[in-house]
Amino acid sequence: MLEVQNIEKSFDRTPVLKDISFSLEKGQALAIIGSSGSGKTTLLRCLNFLERPDKGKIIVQGETLFDAQDASSIKEKDIRMKRLHFGMVFQAFHLFPQYTALQNVMLARQLLEKGKPGFKENKKKIYEEIETEAKELLDKMGLSDRMEHYPHQLSGGQQQRVAIARALALKPDILCFDEPTSALDPELTGEVLKVIRSLADQNMTMVIVTHEMAFARDVADQVIFMDSGVIVEQGDARQVIENPQEERTRQFLSRFSQTV
Ligand SMILES: Nc1ncnc2c1ncn2[C@@H]1O[C@H](COP(=O)(O)OP(=O)(O)OP(=O)(O)O)[C@@H](O)[C@H]1O
Ligand SMILES: [Mg+2]
Repeated sequence: MLEVQNIEKSFDRTPVLKDISFSLEKGQALAIIGSSGSGKTTLLRCLNFLERPDKGKIIVQGETLFDAQDASSIKEKDIRMKRLHFGMVFQAFHLFPQYTALQNVMLARQLLEKGKPGFKENKKKIYEEIETEAKELLDKMGLSDRMEHYPHQLSGGQQQRVAIARALALKPDILCFDEPTSALDPELTGEVLKVIRSLADQNMTMVIVTHEMAFARDVADQVIFMDSGVIVEQGDARQVIENPQEERTRQFLSRFSQTV
């Protein structure tokens, strides 16, 4: 489903990602762990074309979406469509405060459909479909009684679940999470992790940056441990978290020993 080849990225000549390569099968979940500043967010931003890698390739389902050596693969006008392969859920939920939960989930799909041929003729039907799907997604997120609420009327955990529904509404091939529970209290963390776990059970392909080690071990298929912009260790989730081979991974994980 996803192949990342030799990605490099520097900011002001400071390397932040160095020779990052990994691949992900359809239906697999990959957890990325690592200390602050190790490059996890930058890597996700590269996948979503929010940053442009200096070197490397990003391939989704055999299609090269990005190749740093091929200028034609990085045309601004194509980036928006390419970005649709990836859904993104951030640490801060970034919902639109002036819209209800339901409207937040529908909005991006509405904008997307507006740009397609035949939209005007079928507007009513398309909008009805989008609404039905958005309601189904919110229902799946356990929010059927919160659809008409505005973000400020929702708990952090509920807002994050709306953000997940919103990302799913665009039907991404790969859903990326950047520390989706870091802004949440422990009890709200649990409800969001439960939703991500159920997506894993439904074989959603996911890349999850997380500090929840037990969650990574139990839900992810693969784990990547990053330090200072390099992949220090990658492999089977349980193997990496319970029996790391590298000293740097052991040191990092020892800080979480109470929670695993
Ligand atoms: N736009 C930018 N300009 C310059 N430096 C940046 C930029 N974005 C990130 N960096 C630097 O790149 C490095 C990696 O940052 P990144 O946010 O990817 O780390 P992270 O692993 O996500 O950390 P955290 O766990 O704190 O979220 C850091 O040293 C950061 O200061
Ligand atoms: Mg980060």
